[in-house]
Amino acid sequence: MARIGIYGATGYTGYELIKLLVRHPEVELVFATARSDAGKRLSEVFPTMIDQPLVSVEQADLHAVDLIFTCLPHNAPELIPLVQRALDAGKKLIDFSDTFRLNDPDDYARRRGRPHPAPELLVAAVYGLPELHREAIRHAQLVANTGCYPLTAILPLWPLVKAGLIADPEVIVDSKSGVSGAGRSLALKSHFGEAHETFSAYNIGRVHRHLGEMEQETGLQIIFSPHLLPVYRGILSTIYVKLQPGISADQVRAAYALYRDEPFIKLLPEGRLPELRHVQQTMYLAMGLQQVDLASGRYIIVSALDNLLKGASGQAVQSMNLMLGFPEPLGLI
Ligand SMILES: NC(=O)c1ccc[n+]([C@@H]2O[C@H](COP(=O)([O-])OP(=O)(O)OC[C@H]3O[C@@H](n4cnc5c(N)ncnc54)[C@H](OP(=O)(O)O)[C@@H]3O)[C@@H](O)[C@H]2O)c1
Repeated sequence: MARIGIYGATGYTGYELIKLLVRHPEVELVFATARSDAGKRLSEVFPTMIDQPLVSVEQADLHAVDLIFTCLPHNAPELIPLVQRALDAGKKLIDFSDTFRLNDPDDYARRRGRPHPAPELLVAAVYGLPELHREAIRHAQLVANTGCYPLTAILPLWPLVKAGLIADPEVIVDSKSGVSGAGRSLALKSHFGEAHETFSAYNIGRVHRHLGEMEQETGLQIIFSPHLLPVYRGILSTIYVKLQPGISADQVRAAYALYRDEPFIKLLPEGRLPELRHVQQTMYLAMGLQQVDLASGRYIIVSALDNLLKGASGQAVQSMNLMLGFPEPLGLI
């Protein structure tokens, strides 16, 4: 059994992660940390959960585990020292924040307007997208789990990029996310009264934190517009892309053959488009392709996933399985 520690176990992603790990046949949860709920048991916070003690970050014994998940906000001051300590102790680590997702410290500095706080860790980290970086994840000590929005763009666009089918590198990604994407901590925009029965765009025209990883992984220039949906979980993205003129729908679908053996990607049959209900509570990224016009090469792709599973905790378990030498879908199907 591999021994696992989780930092930030009482957040939305930590909660989903524990639900997955308690069913996983090859791991045991050794510690789980919380901030405001430290000293309680997990079952006191979430009544149907296991009776795991919640300890503070300082009390967690990282020497007692083989692999660590950090489900902390990107701006938690504890994060970087903690990652450094864990790596120095020879532990494997999967970080959920966007701190280590960009490959290049200069790209980070350009996009964030400040230098990366630990560029040597950034360079060492592997972007945690098994469908694109399976072998690197297998051998990584530090994996940067992907963002939830970016997956809905990277996975549908990557086969088209790889096949050289994209005519215009400027691509529009119009995304809608449920409120759990913002995490469990209190924020005005995700209050029931502010989010219920309304629909709004946010961060339009600004540099969204997720833009960098979309552009890094696809090599495209993305125009990204995120929206807040009045539902709890799920992201649906509509992608507008211009392919080489005259490419048939069959040729486009053929590019997706590289996902044939992927356990968690579903390309829907022609004429079908994914809805949130198809992916909520599942590990699937589902996508549908729609040709708009053969002559101009215009296509619209709709993709959807559960932000807490394929978009976060399930994806992290997929990477954990690779890092620990288990079958990739173990505990996820
Ligand atoms: N939500 C998503 O859909 C999603 C998807 C992909 C990636 N992510 C990323 O995953 C990470 C966790 O997200 P989340 O949605 O689970 O967040 P969350 O619901 O806000 O939970 C954060 C967890 O970290 C703890 N925490 C916060 N600040 C801390 C600090 N300074 N020291 C120690 N513990 C601290 C919280 O405890 P308290 O409750 O006591 O503060 C809680 O247990 C973030 O980096 C986020 O960007 C989230």
